[in-house]
Amino acid sequence: MSFEKLKPEVVTILQNEAITVTDRLHGVCQLLSDTISYYDWVGFYFKNGDKEELKLRTYVGEETDHTIIPFGKGICGQVAVSNENFVVPDVKAQDNYIACSITVKAEIVVPLFKDGENIGQIDIDSNTPDPFTAEDERFLEFVNLEVAKIL
Ligand code: SME
Repeated sequence: MSFEKLKPEVVTILQNEAITVTDRLHGVCQLLSDTISYYDWVGFYFKNGDKEELKLRTYVGEETDHTIIPFGKGICGQVAVSNENFVVPDVKAQDNYIACSITVKAEIVVPLFKDGENIGQIDIDSNTPDPFTAEDERFLEFVNLEVAKIL
């Protein structure tokens, strides 16, 4: 399935006011994990209140211990402070990395902005080495823009 075909499906899920925002975010995680073969773990982290840490809101994939991640720690924590996409083709080459599962080979984290503020992120783990391209970045930026509209 192409990213262009997925975009309206993402919008439909996010605009479904009959269910909670968290359930809609979970629906997006499920859609992406089901339709993109190399998206093996898909989750949304958000800033935890006033704390300098991220909290896992919802995800699809293997259970993780890393439901709270301090700013600066791991790929996610680095994106919380850099405000920039972080594409990791090979997680083994990263010093500041929090391993969730030994099967994970690559990761992409894209920050989510609301009114110009970095309030969270979408995080994807892949069991395929080096699978992410600029197209994934553009698509995930689109997803986050659509999410920001309902927050
Ligand atoms: N690998 C991430 C931690 C979160 S898990 O991928 C679910 C990191 O280094 O921040």
